Amino acid sequence: MRILVTGGLGFIGSHTSVELLNEGMEVIIVDNLYNSKESVLDKIEQITNKKVKLYKKDLTDKEEVERIFNSEKIDAVIHFAGFKAVGESVREPLMYYSNNLISTINLLEVMKKHNVKNFIFSSSATVYGDQGLTKYAESVGRGKTTNPYGTTKAMIEKMLEDLYASDNTWNITILRYFNPVGAHESGLIGESPNGIPNNLMPYVMRVASKKLEILSVYGNDYPTPDGTGIRDYIHVVDLAKGHVKALQNAPKGLNIYNLGSGKGASVLELVNTFQKVNGVKVNYKITGRREGDLPEYYADAEKAYKELGWKTEKTLEDICRDSWNFEKNNN
Ligand code: WQD
Repeated sequence: MRILVTGGLGFIGSHTSVELLNEGMEVIIVDNLYNSKESVLDKIEQITNKKVKLYKKDLTDKEEVERIFNSEKIDAVIHFAGFKAVGESVREPLMYYSNNLISTINLLEVMKKHNVKNFIFSSSATVYGDQGLTKYAESVGRGKTTNPYGTTKAMIEKMLEDLYASDNTWNITILRYFNPVGAHESGLIGESPNGIPNNLMPYVMRVASKKLEILSVYGNDYPTPDGTGIRDYIHVVDLAKGHVKALQNAPKGLNIYNLGSGKGASVLELVNTFQKVNGVKVNYKITGRREGDLPEYYADAEKAYKELGWKTEKTLEDICRDSWNFEKNNN
């Protein structure tokens, strides 16, 4: 199979490209390098010993999307490309709506024209919003999103549902990620956000490597065992393999799956595990809660296991070890 991976040089896109190649599939990447580096392509080829074709193009330019489909035989598309910083989306909502929605609409319209109707969408557990639960199953349905980034994910899910309702020859798989973390065991690819990280794990890594002074733990007065927030951290390689399983096993039609471990871990559990596994100190202080944070949420991961034959295999220790290995070798 020949798979077009949009955003394939990004954190999750690059790890998924590696797993697709490991499965013997051919990968074509389109990436505008807005939030990624071209050097990641060499790393993907070094890990897999396979060549990958790269189009350095922006999906908001429909003619460029057209050119790719005129030049390549494509069997399926995995769509990662999009802006994904929660805080930035609040400051720049129009940039998020225009980029994330227009790029997706361009892609789907050109796919339709070329009769390419196998589509996997990179969605997020953030579409559940706060429905007063801790464990979220797909059947719960989308809730009220709390930022424009999350709203673009919910809007694209709705677009896909309407597209499928209009033409049920599409095969659409929506994958809702919980908290992607970790790095490939080679240490060649991983997560390296631009600027000061908003997310916990990249921040922990910067403090451990003394690039940042101290981690602020956003609240220890939540109704959780140690008072800190609980999340479902999923190793990015497990997440990548979930995409391969979706391509291979998803039923026909439109299907939605959580990709998560099904277990929660608190901020302090993650910090303490990181310190223990890597023998490094992570300075932290307890501060006030971050606006909009939920006390606890994690995946009901049963549906992906039953229908795709996929579940996570890596542990929180693996996540901490692989993340630190990447940080030491790259950032
Ligand atoms: C995790 C926990 C914080 C930073 C976000 C997006 C979501 C998805 C995943 C894309 C929380 C605590 C964090 C810090 C801390 N992204 N924390 N100090 O908020 O669960 O989800 O990333 O789809 O859309 O919202 O992830 O890593 O920011 O926070 O104490 O410096 O770590 O309070 O409990 P979050 P996170």
